[in-house]
Amino acid sequence: MVYYQRYKQRKKGEHLTEEDEECQSIIMGCSNSGYYTRTRPKLLSFVFLSLLSCSFILAPHLFYPNTTFSLLRLAADDMVAYAPSSSSISNGAIFCDRSSFRSDVCILKGDVRTHSRSSSIFVYRSRDKSNFTNYLSSIVEENEEENGEKLHHEKIKPYTRKWEPSTMDTVTELDLIAKTDGTPGKQHECDVQHEVPAIFFSTAGYTGNVYHEFNDGIMPLYITSQHLRKQVVFVIVDFHNWWLMKYGDILSQLSDYPVISFSADKRTHCFPEATVGLQIHDELTVDSSNMEGNKSIFDFRNLLDGAYRPRVTSLIHEREAKKKLSVSMSPASKRSLNIKRKAHEAHQLKRARLVIISRKGSRAITNEHLLVKMAEKIGFEVEVLRPNSGTELAMIYWVLNSSDVVIGVHGAAMTHFLFMRPGSVLIQVIPLGTSWAAEEYYGKPARKLGLNYIGYKILTTESSLHNKYGKDDPVLKNPTSVTKKGWEYTKEIYLEGQTVSLHLTRFKKQLLRAYDCAIGRTTRHFEQQ
Ligand SMILES: *[C@@H]1O[C@H](CO)[C@@H](O)[C@H](O)[C@H]1NC(C)=O
Ligand SMILES: *[C@@H]1O[C@H](CO)[C@@H](O)[C@H](O)[C@H]1NC(C)=O
Ligand SMILES: *[C@@H]1O[C@H](CO)[C@@H](O)[C@H](O)[C@H]1NC(C)=O
Repeated sequence: MVYYQRYKQRKKGEHLTEEDEECQSIIMGCSNSGYYTRTRPKLLSFVFLSLLSCSFILAPHLFYPNTTFSLLRLAADDMVAYAPSSSSISNGAIFCDRSSFRSDVCILKGDVRTHSRSSSIFVYRSRDKSNFTNYLSSIVEENEEENGEKLHHEKIKPYTRKWEPSTMDTVTELDLIAKTDGTPGKQHECDVQHEVPAIFFSTAGYTGNVYHEFNDGIMPLYITSQHLRKQVVFVIVDFHNWWLMKYGDILSQLSDYPVISFSADKRTHCFPEATVGLQIHDELTVDSSNMEGNKSIFDFRNLLDGAYRPRVTSLIHEREAKKKLSVSMSPASKRSLNIKRKAHEAHQLKRARLVIISRKGSRAITNEHLLVKMAEKIGFEVEVLRPNSGTELAMIYWVLNSSDVVIGVHGAAMTHFLFMRPGSVLIQVIPLGTSWAAEEYYGKPARKLGLNYIGYKILTTESSLHNKYGKDDPVLKNPTSVTKKGWEYTKEIYLEGQTVSLHLTRFKKQLLRAYDCAIGRTTRHFEQQ
């Protein structure tokens, strides 16, 4: 659980509002009270970030090499918010945008050639031989410059956690080199000529944790690539095969071309253009004001739906086949079974579906079985999902996309809220000492996805820490004073050292609210049919 280890405030001037938007959907007419409160961001890191961005504004020349500064400024002036526009970058040039504290993004335009042995990407001025006038003038220009002169050199680590040095240490640094030499030389001939642009990014860092896989990788990849409409080649630095297996469904919605492992494939790949590094907006979201064509988190979700549809369809077929098989094996009871099943299915249709994303060990709900019973009594059809690193994402998508209410304890598995349908209800159980992260990483983004979000902050008596510490101990009384002391404390005490035993009567109030929301929608859904 590495994802807490970070800055606590990231945008200058971003203030947390106090309004409570839980379950506010007008369509559903659900009530508007809730448990969570939002905690204040840490001041120190705020000041630090402000200083950083101020110094950037005041002294940009400290960040860019002087020789190319005017060129970069020229490109920067033309830049639109959603992506550094490649049209403003001249042929054979590199433009780097290092203004975001989360990630650097460089664009190379012209004749781009990989050189994986030296972790380099070269860009030469490309010549359009079909236009003789251009061709001639480019040869004249070229001869005026010293052959092979290095014009511009940039270094970049293409990963979205720029502010975490220890994470960035795991990421391969790439050298981007623009050369005026029009002829790349015999040793650097193209082995593979691509007609479409490339996007280079790393799957190092915290890849391996589902929150980071979506937040640091998949969503930034969507943000950076969707405007290319699948006409793009992904070149992956620090490539893992398992990652490709896990996210292949999504990648196939973003690109029509096979991915390339930068370090394993030593051939020279040539592209008309390349983007190195990914853009990222905020925690688990897509900011439509920074996207071409107003693309939003809903478009991202639609993309997920398309990505998982083929696999979900085949999972449904498999289930049907199994059902038929089990029925045909016992012909005697076939008729009664059929009747039972029909009654059951008719019943199921009307019932609201609750999914509990279960945890084992730390932050587990120790009275989960009682929670299940209570939910069934309320009228839910309950499914307990126990995802592990091997669980197919399409399977999780299938379960969550067809749920009305989802309950989970704060942790990386909450990232799967992205698989829930807008309008459904998410209840996040928030153990002691995790309020800030619960709200920032999951609460806020879930609301942006149109979920009816309920943050259930547990009482000290619902925490196992209650048995370990005296009732006046700061661990129970003032978790913020403890988490402030450092990440090791948060991790050891609150993340790894705590389980939850829900006060069922207290929790029931929230579950009933959720049920009303679900039934409201279910009824409406049936009215429409
Ligand atoms: C060749 O390029 C020049 C300069 O960009 C342009 O003015 C001219 O129209 C082009 N010619 C053709 C045949 O495309
Ligand atoms: C983008 O969305 C905003 C508000 O969500 C809307 O006002 C605007 O018309 C949209 N623009 C386009 C091009 O769809
Ligand atoms: C997700 O749920 C919606 C609404 O029920 C449905 O239309 C869609 O096909 C589902 N997606 C998948 C991949 O099953």
